Amino acid sequence: MTAADPPPRAARLSIPDPVLTQLEDDGLLVAGVLDAVEAKLSAQVTSSHAFVDRAARYLISAGGKRFRPLLVALTGHLGPDGPTPEDPAPAALVDAGVIVELVHLATLYHDDVIDEAPARRGTPSANSRWDNTVAILTGDYLFARASDLSADLGVEVTRIMARTLARLCEGQIAEVQGSIGALPQEIPQLEPTREHYLEVISGKTASLIATSCRYGALLSGVDPDGVEAAARYGWNVGMAFQLSDDVLDIASDHEDSGKTPGTDLREGVRTLPVLLALEDDPDGELAGLLATELGDAEVARALTLLRGSDVLDRARDVAAGYVDAAIGELAGFGDRPIVTALQRLAAYALDRTG
Ligand code: IPE
Ligand code: IPE
Ligand code: MG
Ligand code: MG
Repeated sequence: MTAADPPPRAARLSIPDPVLTQLEDDGLLVAGVLDAVEAKLSAQVTSSHAFVDRAARYLISAGGKRFRPLLVALTGHLGPDGPTPEDPAPAALVDAGVIVELVHLATLYHDDVIDEAPARRGTPSANSRWDNTVAILTGDYLFARASDLSADLGVEVTRIMARTLARLCEGQIAEVQGSIGALPQEIPQLEPTREHYLEVISGKTASLIATSCRYGALLSGVDPDGVEAAARYGWNVGMAFQLSDDVLDIASDHEDSGKTPGTDLREGVRTLPVLLALEDDPDGELAGLLATELGDAEVARALTLLRGSDVLDRARDVAAGYVDAAIGELAGFGDRPIVTALQRLAAYALDRTG
């Protein structure tokens, strides 16, 4: 595949069509930005080194929801400089969409090394397809390509992403520090409490989703207070998005998520459903299972226990609280179709199945 021949949008593991169709039906043009993002993503990762080129395209072509570029495109409707029929793909919004997806992609390459995850986007992860070294360096390459594009948008956009990435790394490191199991003694352990969990997901996931919305608002000319409200909307959506991801790690199968269920359990990561279950584990069976090195049989048993209890519903309830808070942040934008669309998208972050 060449730069001139990007993969079609909405391939596998994508945002469900009804969500996108409804947006277009409401006159909220997002296809122009998303199509241009897809083409530029492909162009932006081009390398004259054949294997770097191939490794960098690997997860782009595998699919993915492009949720963060969609948020850039949508929040880009909040300001006066958003997509119009005359200019359905404003350049700054397209570039911002490419930047957030490239940064997201880079973190996926790295995350699968950290989590020793075998599958991503319905295909073997880069670390299992090749090895950790290739996955880490490809992630670094993608960060570099994102920074290069960001330079075109100026210092403010670049600094926002630098700070976002710092938060993301803090979240990922805090997660490692809170994981149970083979943590080397030299790494200071953090107690995996609910507060710790929320701090982790705020850093590792909500930060980048908040920034996607900040970019959309900022680059479409929203005033400073509105930009902050859009970013807070994104942060709350991001919290709900990760909570629902953690429910899916327990509830869904590989077909829907494109990932391997139980990955968090295997890594000793205590997500909210697990923390809730451990608080109410009268016979200690779950605690006993999680205290061991988890093989396939133990993971399967732990998943059965978790799926059979109310903890998934309770975690969804917590996520629903963040969706409500996200919707609350939209109050200052009035009663416009874009506000209804952003409300629906917040709900999608919770209801998604993949
Ligand atoms: C996966 O993100 C990592 C999380 C923050 C949960 P997505 O669920 O957006 O992954 P893709 O881009 O659709 O593959
Ligand atoms: C998501 O971490 C955050 C990042 C990728 C930075 P997870 O480890 O929870 O996400 P999945 O489940 O592998 O997509
Ligand atoms: Mg992971
Ligand atoms: Mg992870």
